[in-house]
Amino acid sequence: MKIIREIAELRKYRAEQQSGGRTVGFVPTMGYLHDGHLSLVNRAKQETGCVIMSIFVNPLQFGPNEDFERYPRNEERDLDLARSAGVDAVFLPTVEEMYPSPIRTKVIVSDVTERLCGASRPGHFDGVATVVMKLFQMVQPDKAFFGMKDAQQVAVISQMVNDLNLPVEVVPCPTLREQDGLAMSSRNVYLNEEERAQAVVLSRTLDQLELWAREPGMTAELLEGKMRSSIEAMPLARIDYAEVLSFPALQQIQGPIAAVSASQESLPAAQWIAALAVRFGSTRLIDNRIFQGGVRLV
Ligand code: PAF
Repeated sequence: MKIIREIAELRKYRAEQQSGGRTVGFVPTMGYLHDGHLSLVNRAKQETGCVIMSIFVNPLQFGPNEDFERYPRNEERDLDLARSAGVDAVFLPTVEEMYPSPIRTKVIVSDVTERLCGASRPGHFDGVATVVMKLFQMVQPDKAFFGMKDAQQVAVISQMVNDLNLPVEVVPCPTLREQDGLAMSSRNVYLNEEERAQAVVLSRTLDQLELWAREPGMTAELLEGKMRSSIEAMPLARIDYAEVLSFPALQQIQGPIAAVSASQESLPAAQWIAALAVRFGSTRLIDNRIFQGGVRLV
């Protein structure tokens, strides 16, 4: 596995793949890899000839009071995991390599960033879209692989790719879960034992949705209320948001949920998302499910 730290070297490696006739799959990460990341690598290996992973904790997507400094990092462990997963090259730039001077050009995606994490983490998606755009320029991937735990991120990146005609296919991949259902996340290591035990309430609540959504006359508002009550049953849980919106446009839904109609939504029609962000102590966890009418898709 090739370890690359400089943009110039990355561009050279990319050009070699091109001359060798290999398509490039890209897995952008912030490191502290878990099985969720490795499942993206696996998918990329199935669909492309060469897999490049980036590991970069991007300061631009963290707010001033967020966990940039304490975000878990372990380069040696990450490299071992990436190597055993069959990654061909890992790009590990420093902050100085990525941002040699204060950045004055940003990618700002509107509308899909208005709610959910976009509302509770102002500026977060500007940082995500900007770094992903920069990485796309450097790696020039044919396909890029993103986990659906960050469904809003997938919606934002897809919007950016469409709006700016970027020659890359965004491949959304399923969320990987621990045995009890907790969505895998690098931030799960922050949870103490009691918080970890209660954190399962996110996936359990979302599991209930399929039943609730089929109740006659069920609306987004009623579902949000049910999600809130379920989460609030856990004494350590503090809700950041519990929302039901159209997907991928992430707009409010009017009327009964099982009848969300194609006319309310551009492509793909009639999909909606139930999304949660919940704090346990200083750890903020997110999770979601995507449905079509009353039927769960992801
Ligand atoms: O999902 C992440 O880990 C990050 O937001 C990403 C896409 C690597 C950009 O920093």
